[in-house]
Order: sequence, then structure tokens, then C-alpha cells
Amino acid sequence: MSDKPAILGNTPVFRERLPIVQPTLPPFEAIASQVEEILSTGMLTKGKYLRLFEERLAEYLGVRHAVCVSSCTLGLALTYQGLELKGEVIVPSFTFMATVHPLVWVGVEPVFVDIDPHTWNIDPAKVEEAITPRTSGIVAVHNFGNPADVEILEDIARRHGLRLVFDAAHGFGALYQGKPVGGYGDAEVFSLSPTKLLVAGEGGVVATNDDALAEHIRIAREYGNDGRYGSNFPGLNARMPEFNAILGLKSLEMLEENAERRNQVVKRIRERLERLPGLNFQAIRPGNRCSYKDLSVLVDESKFGLTRDQLAQALDAENIETRKYHDPPVHTHNTYRHLRERHVGRLPVTEWVAPRSLSLPIYSHMDEAIADGICYAIERIYAHADAVRAALVAHQ
Ligand SMILES: Cc1ncc(COP(=O)(O)O)c(C=O)c1O
Repeated sequence: MSDKPAILGNTPVFRERLPIVQPTLPPFEAIASQVEEILSTGMLTKGKYLRLFEERLAEYLGVRHAVCVSSCTLGLALTYQGLELKGEVIVPSFTFMATVHPLVWVGVEPVFVDIDPHTWNIDPAKVEEAITPRTSGIVAVHNFGNPADVEILEDIARRHGLRLVFDAAHGFGALYQGKPVGGYGDAEVFSLSPTKLLVAGEGGVVATNDDALAEHIRIAREYGNDGRYGSNFPGLNARMPEFNAILGLKSLEMLEENAERRNQVVKRIRERLERLPGLNFQAIRPGNRCSYKDLSVLVDESKFGLTRDQLAQALDAENIETRKYHDPPVHTHNTYRHLRERHVGRLPVTEWVAPRSLSLPIYSHMDEAIADGICYAIERIYAHADAVRAALVAHQ
């Protein structure tokens, strides 16, 4: 019989709390001279580091334009605006709300469709079924960094004359058939916040091969100013400061190593946890690499013996922080209650996955002992699942 878990009175596997995420950042010395320079010159925004960062990003992603903005959320909003999305846009519900809210900001009605049960990405067959004469576009997500079915979606968009945007918030570090995601659809929009593999503090990148869209984003991030203090459309202030560009430049140099390292850590964890009944992970299509911005596990109570929430509570007692990312799914948010009728019974996979998926701690510099500790904690919780369930039910 293995050790009892902490929730049954044993010492926690981790003495100190293991956070869900830890950004892998450069040491201060690596950016000190540039930070010193912007402080002494006063060039805090719209400077040379932004230009250099955009150049390097475009080169890395293999796209004509990489336009930096202050967040992925605003990058999406300005992209939806620039592509003149209207009427209905098809979008997954099993995503973070920031994929969808910007659609509402530009006056579009989201039409939620289901995900694939294995990849947890938007299901192209469901996309095709949801197209109506009012549909103007499709928004897909590389969920948790798992590349979406980009070519199938491009084909659907082309055949129906629709715009196609990828919410690539989790996308840095993801490879589609060996190449970075970023050049698919009309645009791909990345996030550079601290939970991502490429970190600029806060920030976003709109990657596109469409010259007109890139020009739109450049003007839109400057209030819509046409250069003569007039405007042709309402923009916002969505600029990326120089400090963020400096940090992003250094982070980009570290990206490939971090993505590789993170994949090795995940491989170690997955191989061990996949042996336990009732735990499943995202399927990554052959030839692709997931960024593993998050490492989420699907907990099937009928085989594992505990629900997702019970496992989360037991891990909490082991000092392991977890998150229930994408639960509740976006179509159930109050913001979208007026659309509820339309989606009742239409998203069975989303409704199965969302209450069962649990994101475990993962970061690029996680050492093997930490990874093994997470696995060990889950194994001992599984080994005592009946007692854990009884203890949790008694304490309710
Ligand atoms: C899928 C998805 N889209 C958009 C965003 C918004 O990114 P940002 O915080 O840079 O606005 C996030 C944030 O993590 C996200 O997970």
C-alpha cells in the first residue's frame, strides 16, 4: 500500500506551495543596459525596441507583419474590427472569455460550436454545420498551445468566403508540422502575459500577411489617428511600451529552449500519469508540437474514483495549486445568457470536458524532482481514492 495522501493526514508532498505557473525570465543583467538606456533617453514608448521586436517576431513567425499591441485581447478586438466582422462569427466555447468578448465589442454575435473530444480544439465539422448566410468569420483557438486544424479550417473559410482568425494567445512555442503557428488564416493573435512561454510583462502580437490589416492595426493602436489628428474609424490606445519590447526580445531568444524543455517535462509527467485509469490528456496531432502553455488533465470519475474537484482539493492539501481553466465554458457566462436557447444541447463535448479538466502546475524550468512530485501526489491520491472521497464527503 502506498503512502497516504496529505488530505488523509500525511505530510504534504511539497513543503511550500507549488504555484500553477512561473514565468521563465531573463536575469536583470541581461536587459539592464537597455532599460538604463530608455530611462536615460526618456524613450519609453514608440521607440527602436518596439521596431526591433516586431522585426524579429515577423522573422521568427515567417509572416510579413507582426504588430505589437498592449494585450492579446485588444489585438483580437482591433483585428475583428479591421476584418470588418459582422453578423455572426463562429467560435469555440471551451476557451478563455477574451477570445469572445472582443467580438461583442465590435458588434458581432458569437455562435458557439463544440470542440473535438481528443484535441479540445474547435471541431471543423461543427464549424461547417454552424455556417449561415449571416456568418462572416471563424475564430479558432490553439487551445493550451495545441495547434488547431489550421488547414482544414482554412479550406472551410475559403469555400464559404469567410474570414478566419486564430486566437494564438497560447501559441508561442507551438509548431504546426514543424513550423511556428502564426501565418494561418487572416491573422493570428498572440498573448505575451506572464503565464505564456514568450513574456513581455503584458502585451500581444497580431501576426498577418495581409498588408491592409497590418496597417489598420498600426493606426487602430494609436486611437485611430490618421496622422493629422483626424480619424476614419474609432481606435484605442493599444501600444506596447519599450520596456515590454525589451523583455520580449530577450524572451524570444529563450523561446525555443523553453518550449523544448517544457515538452520534455510534460512528456515525463504524461507518461507516468497516463498509466492511471481515468486520466486523459489532449491529443496532439502527429507532426505538431504543443506549447503546453497549460498542462490540463481530464478526470473521468467513473475510472479514477474521484471527481475533478475532489482531485483539486486533494492536490491543494499536497500544496499543489491547480486551475479549472475554461470552466465555466463561455456560452454559460451571464454575458451570453441571451444566446442560451441557441446552444442548449449543442455543445456536448464542451459540457463534458469543461467540468472534468484540471490544469496542473507547469513551467519551462520545472526540474524533474518537481515533476515527479506532482505525479507521486496524484498516484497516492488515486491509490486512496475511496478514503479521499469519503473524507471529502464527510467534510462537506
Ligand atoms: C485563449 C485566450 N485568449 C485571449 C487571452 C487574452 O490575453 P491577454 O491577457 O494578453 O489579453 C487569453 C489570456 O490568457 C487566453 O487564454
